[in-house]
Amino acid sequence: MQLIDGKKIAQDIRHEIAGQVKEIQAAGGKVPHLVAVLVGNDGASETYVSHKVKACEEVGFKSSLYRYPDTISETALLRAVEDINHDPDVDGLIVQLPLPKHISPDKVTEKILPEKDVDGFHPVNLGRMVKGWPCYLPATPNGIVELIKRCGIPTAGKNCVVLGRSQIVGLPMTILMGRASEPGNCTVTMCHSRTQDIPSVTRQADILIAAIGKPGFVRGDMVKEGAVVIDVGTTRVTDPARKSGFSLKGDVLFEEVAPRCSHITPVPGGVGPMTIASLLQNTLLASRKAIYG
Ligand code: GUN
Repeated sequence: MQLIDGKKIAQDIRHEIAGQVKEIQAAGGKVPHLVAVLVGNDGASETYVSHKVKACEEVGFKSSLYRYPDTISETALLRAVEDINHDPDVDGLIVQLPLPKHISPDKVTEKILPEKDVDGFHPVNLGRMVKGWPCYLPATPNGIVELIKRCGIPTAGKNCVVLGRSQIVGLPMTILMGRASEPGNCTVTMCHSRTQDIPSVTRQADILIAAIGKPGFVRGDMVKEGAVVIDVGTTRVTDPARKSGFSLKGDVLFEEVAPRCSHITPVPGGVGPMTIASLLQNTLLASRKAIYG
């Protein structure tokens, strides 16, 4: 069994990006600038956004964090997004999800200019991904593809099972694993809350990607011997032994599943760091105007 070290691979990518930023600076160019918008005080969102800002600093990007109270109206947030859209210094703009219930994430996502949508959530970027056109790919699925590529895992003709159909992970993951490229060319099955007999499906998987947010859902007897298992889960579970008061639990029961796998990602230190590395890659593409000119 080989542990996929997402932390190390993400570090390599950040190092590569930092080198490119130095080249841009040496040529007198503008460093990439990412704006993150955070609404309210959700603990997990605060952590994710602070990691994103820290990663920007580490590679030499400029970053700005715009914070709004959870009482902000939808109209005011849409106006704020529009203002950031039109700031010529800003290359990439993300609005951290989830948003308070009175704000439509679809409306906010659609308001972000596709050329600044480095999360890849705008319908234009999602549509372009489905078409196989140049676009910003959603960070988590793209990070998983990058992990598979950098670990040299063959995918063509393999059975890939994706657990979960979220718009930001499960659904785009199925598109990327099924497209005609390497990694890709898989026979893909998506499982969701209405799927019958999930274990019988997951046992067919050469590559199993779990993104349902249910800690320990994937048990040893659900996994084929020699499978590649990618765990996207990051549920906060109370843990009095930790200073923070919680630990992160994946969707995979690691101790049961790992002995059966050829490769497996740990939680934390697997997919999580790759999501941020992908966001940085997209922001660099945005600053180079590599997708939309
Ligand atoms: N919430 C959970 N994952 C993400 C992400 O990748 N981007 C944004 N904006 N919000 C998220």
